[in-house]
Amino acid sequence: MKGIILAGGLATRLRPLTWVTNKHLLPIYNKPMISYPIESMVKAGIKEILVSTSPDHAGDFANLLKDGSDFGVHLYYSIQNNPKGGIANAIGLAEEFTQKEKVLVILGDNIFNHNLKPTIKKFEKQEKGAIVYGVRMPNTAKQYGVIELNKKNRVFSIEEKPEHPKSDIAQVGIYMYDNRVFDFIRNLSPSNRGELEVTDLNNLYLKEGTLKCYLLDWWVDAGTSFDELLRANNLVADKIKNHEL
Ligand code: DAU
Repeated sequence: MKGIILAGGLATRLRPLTWVTNKHLLPIYNKPMISYPIESMVKAGIKEILVSTSPDHAGDFANLLKDGSDFGVHLYYSIQNNPKGGIANAIGLAEEFTQKEKVLVILGDNIFNHNLKPTIKKFEKQEKGAIVYGVRMPNTAKQYGVIELNKKNRVFSIEEKPEHPKSDIAQVGIYMYDNRVFDFIRNLSPSNRGELEVTDLNNLYLKEGTLKCYLLDWWVDAGTSFDELLRANNLVADKIKNHEL
C-alpha cells in the first residue's frame, strides 16, 4: 500500500499566517503540522509516501523533510498546479506513483493517534472498496463532510458541509482506496465551488456498496480556523506530555 499526504490548497482561512508559507509548515506544539500525518503513515507501516503540495512552497517541504529518511520512509513529492483543484484532483495526480497498489490518503492538516495498521492489513486482502473514518462532533459536524450511518452501522449517506446535517459524524481526512480510485476520479465533475470533491469520490464507492466506515475517538483538523489551530496546539501538547501521541 502506498501513502499520499495532501498538503496543497491556499489555506485562505488562516491568512495572514499563510501569506508567506504553507499551512502544513505551521507549528503544532513542537513540530511542523506535516510531521503528524507522516508519523501516522509510519505507524501504519507505510514505507513510500507521496507529499502533494502547491508550487509556491514546494521547496520548503523538500528542505524540511528531505528524502524521508529521518522518518524511516521514502518520500516523493508532487505538485498540484491548481491549488484549488480539490482533494480528489490532488489524489488523481498520484496514479503513476501508486503502481497499481492500494492507497492510504491522509490530509496534511489532520492529527490523530489511531493506529491504522490492523485495518490496512484487512483492507490489503480485500479485492475492492474504500474506507472512510468518522468522529462524533455534536456541534460542529456541519463544517466537514457529514456521514450518516444506518442501524447496522453501514454508511447511508455522506454530504459535504451540509446546511442541515443528517448526523453528528464528521468525515475525517483519512481514506483508503483500491486502485480503481483513479478511474473514479476521471469521472468526477467539479462541485459548485469548482473543486473535485473527496465526498463525491466516496459517494461513488457508497453507490457501489463497497464503502466502509470506522469511528475514531479523537481527531483534529488543524486547518479549519484559528480556533481549531489553537485547539490542535493545546490538545497535541497535552497528548505529547501524557505520551498519548
Ligand atoms: O479534514 C476533514 C475534511 O476535509 C472533510 O470532512 C471534508 O469532507 C473534506 O472535504 C475536507 O474539507 P476541508 O474544507 O477541511 O478541506 P480543505 O480545503 O481544508 O483541504 C483539506 C486538506 O487537503 C488540506 O490539508 C489541504 C489539502 N488540499 C486541499 C485542496 C482543496 C490539497 O492538497 N489540494 C486541494 O486542492
